Amino acid sequence: MKITIIGAGNMGRGIGHRLVAGGHEVTLVDNSLEAAETLAKELNGVAQKGGQAEAAALSSVALGDVVILAVGYGANLELGKQLGQKLEGKVVIDIANPLNASFDGLATGGTTSSAEELAKVVPAGAKVVKAFNTTFAGTLVSGNVGGTPLDVFIAGDDEAAKKVVAGLVTDGGLVAVDAGPLLRSRELEGLALLGITLQIRLNLGFATAWKLVRP
Ligand SMILES: NC(=O)c1ccc[n+]([C@@H]2O[C@H](COP(=O)([O-])OP(=O)(O)OC[C@H]3O[C@@H](n4cnc5c(N)ncnc54)[C@H](OP(=O)(O)O)[C@@H]3O)[C@@H](O)[C@H]2O)c1
Repeated sequence: MKITIIGAGNMGRGIGHRLVAGGHEVTLVDNSLEAAETLAKELNGVAQKGGQAEAAALSSVALGDVVILAVGYGANLELGKQLGQKLEGKVVIDIANPLNASFDGLATGGTTSSAEELAKVVPAGAKVVKAFNTTFAGTLVSGNVGGTPLDVFIAGDDEAAKKVVAGLVTDGGLVAVDAGPLLRSRELEGLALLGITLQIRLNLGFATAWKLVRP
């Protein structure tokens, strides 16, 4: 599948590793074309099953079937507005955690979420899915913590779009957990905030992951 990742930073790298491990074609876009090109080279060095990566400029990129906004909260909304009709029919993955300025709460205040705000600014035909916001960038590179594959919690209102995202997750060796409608993004963003808080309190080095233990 053709996937565009906008943002070639920590998360663009982590998710990119999983996607090319799963045999997907990734196009990377960043404010810095050089950063996108450097990451594309890294991903091509580890790609499996025919996966590959390339860099492109936002102005000329042909968006893939799936568009991942791997940028901060605020920048994701701006991109949603800027891309506008180009997102029609696309699966748009929101990974943002809308932390407040002091990193001890959510700027969305619990009454909305980054993903819900994104859904308000993109065309009605764009299918916004929340995913990857509870997985730390460093853990995505290998896809596991101590040999245990990461869980990726997925929320969205379009069942087919969630299945597409779940497929990408499992292709990359991770475990997909359907958390329900897009409304659940509020809890997923809260879970990520708790995860970040624990890293700092317990000095965990952003090397842990949330796992749903099943019978
Ligand atoms: N880091 C994590 O472990 C983690 C985990 C879960 C979720 N998240 C979420 O993932 C998102 C990205 O985090 P990150 O750690 O990957 O951030 P990051 O390392 O700063 O990467 C973001 C990249 O996107 C670029 N960018 C910003 N706006 C852009 C635009 N309009 N067009 C093209 N490129 C643009 C940035 O360029 P500039 O440097 O020029 O701005 C930067 O290279 C955030 O919303 C965060 O809450 C992060």
